[in-house]
Amino acid sequence: MDYKNRVKISSILVDESVESGQTVALLGWVRTVRVGKEVGFVEINDGSCRGSLQGVIANPNESDVLHKLTTGCSVRMEGQLVESQGKGQKYEIQVKNLKIIGKSPDTFPLQKKRHSFEFLREIAHLRPRSNTFGALNRLRSKLAYGIHQYFQNKGFYYIHTPIITSSDAEGAGEMFRVTTLPMDNPPKDESGAIDWDKDFFAAEAFLTVSGQLEGEALATALGDIYTFGPTFRAENSNTSRHASEFWMIEPEMAWAELTDNMDLAEDFLKELFKFTLSECADEMVFFNQWIEKGLIDKLEGVINSTFERLPYTEAVKVLEKNASAFEFPVGYGQDLQSEHERYLTEEVFKKPVIVYDYPEEIKSFYMRVSDDGKTVGAMDVLAPGIGEIIGGSQREERLDVLLARMKKKGMDPNDEALQWFIDLRRYGSVPHSGFGLGFERTLMYVTGLSNIRDVIPFPRVPRWAKF
Ligand code: 4AD
Ligand code: MG
Repeated sequence: MDYKNRVKISSILVDESVESGQTVALLGWVRTVRVGKEVGFVEINDGSCRGSLQGVIANPNESDVLHKLTTGCSVRMEGQLVESQGKGQKYEIQVKNLKIIGKSPDTFPLQKKRHSFEFLREIAHLRPRSNTFGALNRLRSKLAYGIHQYFQNKGFYYIHTPIITSSDAEGAGEMFRVTTLPMDNPPKDESGAIDWDKDFFAAEAFLTVSGQLEGEALATALGDIYTFGPTFRAENSNTSRHASEFWMIEPEMAWAELTDNMDLAEDFLKELFKFTLSECADEMVFFNQWIEKGLIDKLEGVINSTFERLPYTEAVKVLEKNASAFEFPVGYGQDLQSEHERYLTEEVFKKPVIVYDYPEEIKSFYMRVSDDGKTVGAMDVLAPGIGEIIGGSQREERLDVLLARMKKKGMDPNDEALQWFIDLRRYGSVPHSGFGLGFERTLMYVTGLSNIRDVIPFPRVPRWAKF
C-alpha cells in the first residue's frame, strides 16, 4: 500500500500549502456517500482539521468500490484537487483511484446524525471521529502547547513531579492507594494493623493529588518552575466539574507574594485565551456555533477585563445579602460552594473574580498565615459558568509558624514523611507562591462543553474507568 504521497486535508484547507491542479492521495474515514446517476460523492475526513473533502466520482455505475462504501470506512482516495463548483466548499477531488482500506459494517455507531453526549461517552473509543471530539482533541493538544510556550517564554522550568507519592499534598484524604499487598490477606503487625513495611515501597503510597509540594522543592532551587501532569482525586463527587483523573498546571515562584501570584494567574489566563482564539481559530468557530453561542465574545470579554479581586470577608458580605437564595449556608468560616462562586461571577461581577485571604481553618496547612493571625494568603480564581478554575496561595516560609500551624491542624510536625518539606524552611527558606489550574476546567471554559467527561478523551469519574 502506498501511503507516501499522502496529503493531509489540513494542508489543503488550513495551511493552503497544496495548490489546486495537483494530484493528491487522501487517507481518511468516510463521512457520507451519495450515489447519483451521473456522479457519486464521497466525503472524507482525516482528523487533521475540522473540514472534510469531497471526492467526485464520474460514471458511478462503473465503480464497484463506490457501492461498497459505507459511513466509517477507511479509504485511500487519489485524484486531482480542483476548485469546487459546489456551495460551501472551496475544493473537491476528481477521483481517479478509490480504495477501501478498512470496511465499516452498518453496525458502526457513529452515523451521520446528532448523537447525545451521554451516548458518545459509551463509545469513547470512536467519538474522536466525530466533529465535536475531533475539534476538542485538536484544541486540547494545541492548548497544552500554548501553556508550555507561555511558561517557557517567561523563563519557568518544566518539572516532572512524581505520580506515585507518600505525601498527601492537600491533606484532604482523597488519595488512591498504590499497593502490591494482597487485598484479601494483607500482612499485619503485632497490633493487628496492616504492615506497610511489607508493601512495595516499605511505606504507604498513593497517586498524587498535586505536584505542589515537590514543586516547592524545585522552585526554591531554580526560581520559577511549573508542572503539567496528571493528578488523581478519590473524591466521591459525581458532578459535571469533577474528574478522578485530571491534568493540572502548577507554577511555583520563589521570591513571590500573593499579589504576584494573582498577577501571574490573571495574565496567564488572558494569554491562554488569546492563544486559543488565534491558534485554534478553526475549532473555536465550531464551538462558538454548535456548543456555546457567544463563546468567542465571552473569551474576548475576559481578555479585556480586569479581574475583580475580593477578600473572602468581603465576598461573604456580598453573599449574605442574598443568603436566602442559596442551598448552602453563607457566613464567615464557611467554604464557598459552587452556587456561591457562580453567583459572584455570573450575577454580581459578571467576570472572573479572585477571592483571597481565606479563614485559616478551611485552608491547607502549607498556606501562609496573614498578619491578622486569622486568615491565610490563599486565592481562588472563579470564572463565570464554572466556578473555581484556579486554587493557589502564598506558602508559609517561616519554620516556627509552619510547625505551629501543623500542630493546630492535628498533623505531627515530627512525621518522618514530611521532614523533607519542612527542610525547605530549615535551609535557605524564601517567600514563595504558586497555584494550580485545572486543565479540564480550562477546556470546559474555552469550548463551552459543560461536562468534564467531554473534555478529556477517556474520563475517569466515580464508577467509571472503562477503556
Ligand atoms: O484547588 P486545588 O485543590 O489546589 C491544589 O491542588 C494546589 N496544590 C494547587 C497549587 O497551589 N499548586 O486544585 C487546583 C485546581 C482547581 O482550581 C481546579 O481547577 C482543579 O485543580 N481541580 C479539579 N479539576 C477537575 N476535577 C477535580 N476533581 C478537581 N479538583 C481540582
Ligand atoms: Mg481549591
